[in-house]
Amino acid sequence: MIDFKHEIINAIKKAVDFDISEQDLHKYIEKPKNSANGDYAFPCFSFAKQLKKSPQEIAENLKQKIKISPEYVQEIKVSGPYLNFYINKITLTQEVLNEISKNQENYGKSKIGEGKTIVIDYSAPNIAKPFHIGHLKTTVIGGALYNIYKYLGYNTIGENFLGDYGTQFGKLIEGYKRWGKDYDLTQNPIDKLGEIYKRINDLCSEDEQVLEAAREDFKQLENGKEEYVELWKKFRDVSIKEFQKIYDLLGSHFDSWKGEAFYATKTDEVIQILQDSGRLVESNGAKVVDLTDEGIDTPCIICKSNGSTIYATRDLAAILYRARTYDFDKCLYVTSYEQNLHFKQIFAVAKLLGIKEKCIKGLKHVSYGMVRLPSGKMSTRAGNFVKVEDLLHETIEEAKKIIEEKNPDLSNKEEVAKKVGIGAVIFNSLATSRNKDEIFDIKAMLNFQGETGPYIQYMYVRTKSVLEKIENMPKFEQLKLENLQDEYSIAIIKLLYDFENILVEVTEKEEPSILARYLLDLAKAYSVFYNENRIIVEDEEVKNARVYLTACVSKVLKIGANLLGIDMPNKM
Ligand code: ARG
Repeated sequence: MIDFKHEIINAIKKAVDFDISEQDLHKYIEKPKNSANGDYAFPCFSFAKQLKKSPQEIAENLKQKIKISPEYVQEIKVSGPYLNFYINKITLTQEVLNEISKNQENYGKSKIGEGKTIVIDYSAPNIAKPFHIGHLKTTVIGGALYNIYKYLGYNTIGENFLGDYGTQFGKLIEGYKRWGKDYDLTQNPIDKLGEIYKRINDLCSEDEQVLEAAREDFKQLENGKEEYVELWKKFRDVSIKEFQKIYDLLGSHFDSWKGEAFYATKTDEVIQILQDSGRLVESNGAKVVDLTDEGIDTPCIICKSNGSTIYATRDLAAILYRARTYDFDKCLYVTSYEQNLHFKQIFAVAKLLGIKEKCIKGLKHVSYGMVRLPSGKMSTRAGNFVKVEDLLHETIEEAKKIIEEKNPDLSNKEEVAKKVGIGAVIFNSLATSRNKDEIFDIKAMLNFQGETGPYIQYMYVRTKSVLEKIENMPKFEQLKLENLQDEYSIAIIKLLYDFENILVEVTEKEEPSILARYLLDLAKAYSVFYNENRIIVEDEEVKNARVYLTACVSKVLKIGANLLGIDMPNKM
């Protein structure tokens, strides 16, 4: 497609008589919020000092000098200090519809990521512990980023860094040895492992000998005692099976499930390298890296005083391993902001591991805010945790009630309710910028008229029902584009034009909400178009053009929603 912005930048660059790089121009060019001010604007104040002229004068001068084909830009206007560019709408329409007709379901797909590798570390629940609502958020954000990077041609690797290691497994083994036969782990295993853990933990705090036994069990587990490794595997397997139920509902996929236990076997090398670097120091019996010079007050603990490693050590081993195995350009960690310090620390220490500069630069913590349930809905159980699986099923049930009310004759209600319910949850997790807190309010997220996943699905279904009525789908070559120059059609076409840029922006900021907001804008623009323009009209040319545009909106809504992880129903 023609890159209008690029053409404008080139034209400005040729017209100015001072030195300015293409990159800088890229930064200067704005997209006016109000389309009356053009499609692109070039603010001239920054050059006033240098040129000793008023910004208006500079803009006027530039306007005289700029040469750009009317096929790209149909008008240039000076408005105060701004130079406003109005792109040629017929060219734009031609470009966008042609591109969609060529690429169909692959519109927006690109190769810009070719040759680059992105590791995304997301979800990462902890074995024998509940999959909590924060894990839901990382799973959804990570999954969306995964899909989008892939779509842009990056070699993308989804890593599930399971929390499957730690001294708590010594306790769990000790508890299971004592009471295991009383618990049937084929049903609700995580609850039962939680109960066993609580029992043994209580006992440990009363009885030093039991605590000692648990420590010994952990040591033997680390040394590979077969019986214990089998138990650990059992806890791990039953937990993963539970997590998988959630992943199946969400459609989550991982390429690798190397958890903390895997990296625990690789921490010796990390310790050795840090030792050799001279930065590992003793502190109260522990071995730490002091990070005050890096501006971090809290030292990063590498080995505790009893010699065992911690979460950070295993994460460092993972960085080393991933840098060597994947030679990544980015390694993203999707967790809540509660882990900000942890990632600051390990990224600072990672610089000492002797891995490539590009890998160090590519380490990025993609943090997100808290998820809250509307008041009154908090579970009273300790830790305020509610079961994510239950929440998902509750949302699906609610969706089903709404569908039954709105469309009682729908044939596949179950399937649609699942798409709508899960779509609502996913969209809700992604719709606000990730560092803002999220409210998990089932009623609100299922509002078909709100800024919700179901609203987008609903507009998609509307496009489908328009298209269903058409016997002969018009061909792009037959369209008379003059019929799509009204403001409602142009608003849609501009959005469609932006799609690939939106995806790129998501990867620049690791912010899937940009795509979520975009889909809302597109759905809203279609809603306006639909209300203002009758689609099925007598005039064949007008009808064909509007039907074709409807088909384009339909495709992009679907591609975009799928990239976020949302399935689209054809009816609802
Ligand atoms: N298991 C951790 C938790 O539940 C998240 C792990 C995130 N990934 C990482 N490489 N540290 O909080």
